[in-house]
Amino acid sequence: MIDQATIDRIRDAANIVDVVSDFVTLRRRGVNYVGLCPFHSDKSPSFYVSPAKNICKCFACGSGGSPVNFIMQHEQLDFFDALRYLAKKYHIDIQEKELTDEEKAIRSDRESMLIVNQWAQTYFSSQLWEHPEGSSIGLRYFRERGFRDDVIRKFQLGYSLERHDALYGEAIRSGYRKEFLEKTGLVIAYDNGQVNDRFRGRVIFPVHSLSGKVVAFGGRILRKDDKTAKYLNSPESDIYHKSNELYGIFLAKQQMVKNDRCYLVEGYTDVISMHQAGIENVVASSGTALTMPQIRLIHRFTENITVLYDGDAAGIKAALRGIDLLLEEGMNVKVVLLPDGEDPDSFARGHNATQFADYIRENETDFVRFKTRLLLGDAGGDPIKRTALIKDIIRTIAIIPDEIARALYIRECSSMMEIDEKVLLNEVNKITLSRNEKQKPPTPPLPAVSPTTDGGAQTSTAPEPSSPQAAASSTVPSPIRSPFEAEELVLLRYVVRYGERILAYTDEETNREVLIPVAEFIRSNLEEDDMSFHNPLYKAMLDEATAHCRDEGFVASKHFLYHAETVVSHLATDLISEKYQLSKYHTKYQEIKQEEDMLTQWVPRDLLGFKDAWIRRQISEIGDRIKNLQHTENAEEQVLLLMQEQDELNVIKKNLNKMIGERIILKM
Ligand code: CTP
Ligand code: MN
Repeated sequence: MIDQATIDRIRDAANIVDVVSDFVTLRRRGVNYVGLCPFHSDKSPSFYVSPAKNICKCFACGSGGSPVNFIMQHEQLDFFDALRYLAKKYHIDIQEKELTDEEKAIRSDRESMLIVNQWAQTYFSSQLWEHPEGSSIGLRYFRERGFRDDVIRKFQLGYSLERHDALYGEAIRSGYRKEFLEKTGLVIAYDNGQVNDRFRGRVIFPVHSLSGKVVAFGGRILRKDDKTAKYLNSPESDIYHKSNELYGIFLAKQQMVKNDRCYLVEGYTDVISMHQAGIENVVASSGTALTMPQIRLIHRFTENITVLYDGDAAGIKAALRGIDLLLEEGMNVKVVLLPDGEDPDSFARGHNATQFADYIRENETDFVRFKTRLLLGDAGGDPIKRTALIKDIIRTIAIIPDEIARALYIRECSSMMEIDEKVLLNEVNKITLSRNEKQKPPTPPLPAVSPTTDGGAQTSTAPEPSSPQAAASSTVPSPIRSPFEAEELVLLRYVVRYGERILAYTDEETNREVLIPVAEFIRSNLEEDDMSFHNPLYKAMLDEATAHCRDEGFVASKHFLYHAETVVSHLATDLISEKYQLSKYHTKYQEIKQEEDMLTQWVPRDLLGFKDAWIRRQISEIGDRIKNLQHTENAEEQVLLLMQEQDELNVIKKNLNKMIGERIILKM
């Protein structure tokens, strides 16, 4: 873990113009810089970079934030890996937090294995390019398959010599330990002391994890040989769980986000050929059915998946397999069948990028439709087969978690199968209802903001490191909306921008000057009237700012911009950029400066605005209750009491309005 002091140093060093410029060409415009947004296909520059605020923001798609946010989103890294990236860029040594002995042992084992693999990858590649055997056999094989040199390098392909211990000998000479060579499966050690390389005489496909580490290798034999398996893969180990990895994910993730789609193919060579044809958002399940962890991995970047399979019977079967899992996870699944006898690899070789894209576009079929049509064709007019088919489709539709999507599929399938929509709906509901009885619906996740955070390291205790990244790639989860959303945001905006600034005013009763930070002022002022924010996220942010606003060196804007909770840092970015600039107060840049000088007037005025909205709502709620009671017998007394309450609130409301209209008693 990275310690807080290091996080602070990284934040202070990271310059937004610098960081963004590594990926986007920026032009100066006034005090800001603009460029084409890297997160959506931007035709005219919508991406603003503000050196003064040290943030960036796309005014078209809303992406952006602090340098850390930008790197998280652009490089698809989690919060801490983004910090590591920036540390490297600014030559800051990372002080990782002390680990326990046990953690150290596990960690150093895994790290040693990754280091050995990294070394082996370079070794295999150098053999491919530099060794006479490697280039005459391995490189020639790849080139004859039609792989371009740049693609061979991009995928770090390699070659393992046809000798029993070429890698082992070289590794030991270079100081790597047998233990880790064995644990990664690069060598196989026998009881009699003999040690053999695992991948003798094969071309090598390194398998990279999501963050680009080499976790395994696949080795393909070059001769046709029925006795030996075509591919030999690294064994399962502490760093490689086949069912959790997807070949190509490291090179695909950015394009997956940008195109909001993932292509799924079967094998190593399919992924590589598609890259060569210009399609990069592609991953392979490596010959096995998709697993839930793999699906979740894809889902972090997009919910749209297109499965590309061979047009023959085996390909179709493979396409049907595992798709229920995708639907269950709420993914939108499409299927493209390639012409009979072609796999994505061969098809990509015979067609250029445009032709490939056209073929996909013209043949992409929604999965439920695809399955229905396929089974309909199989069943023909046979009523028993048709019944079985209908049951099968109903089961598939029932898996889809989204009710609206289910309803649309039911409508469509009912017309395809010529069955009454109501009958289908009824059958689907039978399944979903019995399922819902078994499992309670999950409660919607609320973004938890820990009030003890000191700048954002609190997610480090979360068991799954996926949370910041998941939020970064999806849209900001909208927390429960408050009836006073607008009024609350106006106040939260002050908290985020100026939470630590000191307001000075004269207390009416004691006639003494009171100094109080903005965040605390807002919170205590609301508390006095037993009010608080309805929106739990806003409330948590207000509490957090109040808890820290008197801390030495605390700057609310910085604190929230660099928050480890992506929901929080995104909202802060919006509030700090001009998105929520309230046009009726100030429109021109010069006037923004004024806002800071007007806080003593504007904060209380907007507090009154919030209270006014609150009271109005209470009055109208009481009105509703009175209406409901009108036809109830013996309710006169209750109605009278409610009316009295309403009158009192109306008096408060009048006073509030008067205060809003008058000059506020505060002074600087
Ligand atoms: N696979 C494997 N072990 C095998 C066969 C296949 O691990 N014995 C995996 C590999 O990841 C392979 C994928 O399943 O990439 C798909 O298999 P296949 O289509 O046979 O391989 P291709 O990648 O198409 O390889 P090639 O075109 O070189 O035959
Ligand atoms: Mn193939």
